[in-house]
Amino acid sequence: MAEKILLTGGAGYIGSHTYVALVAAGYAVTILDNFQNANRSVIDRLEQLTGAPVSVAEADIRDATTLASLFAEHQFDAVVHFAALKAVSESVERPLDYFDVNISGLINLLRVMDAAGCRNIVFSSSATVYGVPDETPTPETAEFRAMNPYGQTKISGEQILNQLTAADDRWNVGILRYFNPAGAHDSALIGEDPRDIPNNLMPFIAKVAAGELAELQVFGDDYDTPDGTGVRDYIHVDDLAKGHVLSLAALLGDGQSHLVNLGTGEGHSVLEMVAAYRRASNRDVPYRITERRAGDVPVYVARADKAEEILGFKTERTLDEMCASSWKWIAGPHSSEDPGPEDKG
Ligand code: NAD
Ligand code: UD1
Repeated sequence: MAEKILLTGGAGYIGSHTYVALVAAGYAVTILDNFQNANRSVIDRLEQLTGAPVSVAEADIRDATTLASLFAEHQFDAVVHFAALKAVSESVERPLDYFDVNISGLINLLRVMDAAGCRNIVFSSSATVYGVPDETPTPETAEFRAMNPYGQTKISGEQILNQLTAADDRWNVGILRYFNPAGAHDSALIGEDPRDIPNNLMPFIAKVAAGELAELQVFGDDYDTPDGTGVRDYIHVDDLAKGHVLSLAALLGDGQSHLVNLGTGEGHSVLEMVAAYRRASNRDVPYRITERRAGDVPVYVARADKAEEILGFKTERTLDEMCASSWKWIAGPHSSEDPGPEDKG
C-alpha cells in the first residue's frame, strides 16, 4: 500500500510542486494548509495536474486537536513540513508571529506526531541560517548566524529537531536548506503567485517583464562580485521538489536522518538574471541601480556535493528553464483569477 504523507503548507509555492512530485512517486498525500498565503484554486489545479482528487484539510498547524484527528484518520507514515511564515521584513515587524507559527507550530506538530507514533519528518530550512557566510560555496558545516527573526526561526527549528533525534532515536529527520527557489511547473498550472509587490528578485523581474511594474531596482552594484551585483544560487522549484522525494525515501527506507543544502552549486548575479529573463520572455526588463538593501548578503551559493552523496540529488534544470517556466506561468491564464491573499515572500 502507498505510504501516507502529510504535506503541511502544501498549497504554497514549493509545497504545491512537491505535491505533484510525491504523487508521481506513488505516495498518498494529504495537504494541510490554512491558505493564509495560498489561493484555493491551487487545489483544483493540482487535481487537473494529477488527474485525481486532492485530500486537503484547511487547518492551522498550531491547532493540535485538528492535527490529532487527521493523524487518527490517516495514520501518516511521514510529514513534509512547509507551513511557515517566510517574509524577512515582516518578521522584523512582527517577530512574535514568526516565532509562534514557525517555532510553536513546529513543536505542536512534533507533539502530535509523537503521540501518533509518526516520527519521520522533512523540514524546510533555508540558506538564511548561514547569515553572511565566511565561505562560498557554503558547506553545511558553516556556523549558524541569525540575521533577522525569520532566520532565527529556521535555526531554532533545526536545533529542536537535532536535539529531538539525539534524545530519541526513533525520530528520523531530513533537514533541507534551500537556496533560491525559482521557476514554475512546465504546465503553467502552478507557480509562485505574488499578488502584491514581490520582495524577491525572480517574481519582481517577472512582473516587470509583464509590464505590471515599471522597473526593477537593482539593490547595489558595488559588492565584491564579478559585476558588483548580488549573487545567488537559483534552483528550479521542480528540482527542489525532487529533493523532497529523495529525502523522504531516505527517511522511510534506511531511517537515515540527514542535513543537506539544496542548490545547484552555481551562482548568478542580478544582472545575469535580468539578461536570462529577457531571453526567456523576449521582453524588456528595465532596471535602475539603487542603494544596497539593508541586511542583504553579497553571495549565497551552495556547496552541493553532500546532497548528491547522501541522497543522490542532482539538479537537472537550467537557469534558462527557470526563467522560461516562470514566464509561461506569469503570462498564462492564472493572472485573470480573483485576487488571492497578498504575497508574503
Ligand atoms: P508559501 O508561503 O508559498 O507556502 C507556505 C504555505 O504554508 C502557504 O500555503 C501558507 O498558506 C501555509 N501556512 C502558513 N502558515 C500556516 C499555518 N499557521 N498553518 C497552516 N498553513 C500555513 O512559501 P514557500 O515559498 O512555498 O515556502 C515553503 C517553506 O520553505 C517555508 O517553510 C519557507 O520558510 C521555506 N523556504 C522558502 C524559501 C523561498 O525562497 N521560497 C527559501 C528557503 C526556505
Ligand atoms: C531573501 C531573504 C532570505 C529568504 C529568501 C527567500 C532578505 C535579506 N533575505 O533572500 O532570508 O530566505 O529571500 O524568501 O530579504 N534584488 C534586487 N532587486 C529586487 C529584489 C532582489 O536587486 O527587487 C537582489 C538582492 O539584493 C539579492 C538578489 O536579488 O542580491 C536575490 O534577492 P531575493 O530574491 O530577495 O533573495 P535573497 O536575498 O537571497
